[in-house]
Amino acid sequence: MPDAPKPVTTHDLLQMKEQGKRIVVLTCYDALFARLLDGAGVDILLVGDSVNQVLAGAETTLSATLEQMVYHTKIVRRGTQRAMVVCDMPFLTYQVSPADAIRNCGRVLAETGCHGVKLEGGRPIADTVRALVDVGIPVMGHLGLTPQSVHALGGYRVQGRDERTADRLKDDARALEQAGAFAIVLELIPGPLASQITKSLTIPTIGIGAGPACDGQVLVLHDMLGLNDRFSAKFVKRYAALSEEVREAVQLYAAEVREGRYPGPEHSFAK
Ligand code: KIV
Repeated sequence: MPDAPKPVTTHDLLQMKEQGKRIVVLTCYDALFARLLDGAGVDILLVGDSVNQVLAGAETTLSATLEQMVYHTKIVRRGTQRAMVVCDMPFLTYQVSPADAIRNCGRVLAETGCHGVKLEGGRPIADTVRALVDVGIPVMGHLGLTPQSVHALGGYRVQGRDERTADRLKDDARALEQAGAFAIVLELIPGPLASQITKSLTIPTIGIGAGPACDGQVLVLHDMLGLNDRFSAKFVKRYAALSEEVREAVQLYAAEVREGRYPGPEHSFAK
């Protein structure tokens, strides 16, 4: 039997940045896709709280629960051998106090077998990030358009377009790095700003709608596969059109069942 592949670690990610090797990240919510993405060589599977929108049909990520994230992270981990698995911590599971964050993130790490957690926010949560890192919980940051703050930000819009907000994002990135975060997601910010932040840090940046200069890229799997045909955005490239394929396959199945063409003899048991 071939040896199991060596899992991707936070140390590997730092090395990849140093060597200029791009980090490939996709969201993942279940074991079946985890097996496919892991086999295809994706470096990090992010169990995003976007699961609450993409699979559970909610308007925002705000109502995602810890139970939901534990469940999805556990099943993603089951399908994974090589990729690092990171769990997105839901709203209010880490903002109340560092002690609360340690309890909730620690539970996620212990119960799911994931390798790290992702928290949204910069300077205001830097002490919490430090407290988590100090007890051995790897933390990925998330800056720019932070979906758990969608109402405070006035919608899903590009962040850091003016000098004041751009400077704040640079400060936030520095604060997360100093607090011990192992990587930072930069969502929906101008490419030149993402480039400046990326160059200013020793830890990798992972962009989504943040241009080509980041150390890695992440997309929501169901968007890039064209499975989620209700969502489109400038930064999403569709690498497949699976919603059309699903619709066509199901329509063909329905027609064959209705016309008595399925199941045929090759799908039936004579005795
Ligand atoms: O929840 C999520 O899927 C995310 C990514 C889009 C970065 O946070």
